[in-house]
Amino acid sequence: MLYLQKAALTDGREVYEMLQRIPDTPFLDASYQMAWEDFPNWVAHRVEMADGFGLPEGWVPSTTFWLMDDGIPVALSCLRCRLTDALRERGGHIGYAVDSAKRGRGYGKALLGLMLQEARRMGMTEELLVTVHPNNIASRRVAEANGGQLRRETAEHVYYWFA
Ligand SMILES: CC(C)(COP(=O)(O)OP(=O)(O)OC[C@H]1O[C@@H](n2cnc3c(N)ncnc32)[C@H](O)[C@@H]1OP(=O)(O)O)[C@@H](O)C(=O)NCCC(=O)NCCS
Repeated sequence: MLYLQKAALTDGREVYEMLQRIPDTPFLDASYQMAWEDFPNWVAHRVEMADGFGLPEGWVPSTTFWLMDDGIPVALSCLRCRLTDALRERGGHIGYAVDSAKRGRGYGKALLGLMLQEARRMGMTEELLVTVHPNNIASRRVAEANGGQLRRETAEHVYYWFA
């Protein structure tokens, strides 16, 4: 069974090891190749950020979730509580990445679907934005499969909106 689990201080080795198999998560500062000893502080910071504490200048609260498949973490996603001018250009409301050893199995599509539901559950009623690199075909398919409307394209990003 697939479900979302919020990042928590109790997260341990399984989440850490998954993060070490995700070299391409620009939105998760420095989780890849971090030392195991640094993981507790890193995860504590993610927990704080969800509550709006310890945010770098100009950042908005952002909640990190793991996608769990029968108790095993297989992907991660971040939900930003609102857009800033910077997020409107790059990042949007939701970022996601799947364990590189587990891609192409439908996790990406399922994850974005669950994140969109979660955003509504958390009271976000506005249209939600996902930005994707134009050449990131897998991510574009994930967005399209979840009903994303392509409304803008630049050389750097394509912009999918979710009603
Ligand atoms: C984008 C990403 C999340 C997709 O996750 P995934 O679990 O592999 O995706 P799914 O298995 O749900 O597949 C989604 C679609 O992408 C397609 N796909 C998967 N890998 C692909 C690849 N390497 N090239 C082209 N298409 C690909 C699948 O065939 C599927 O398309 P379909 O609807 O036509 O069947 C994953 O590749 C990833 O983590 N990438 C690195 C981080 C990233 O780019 N995040 C998105 C930032 S916006």
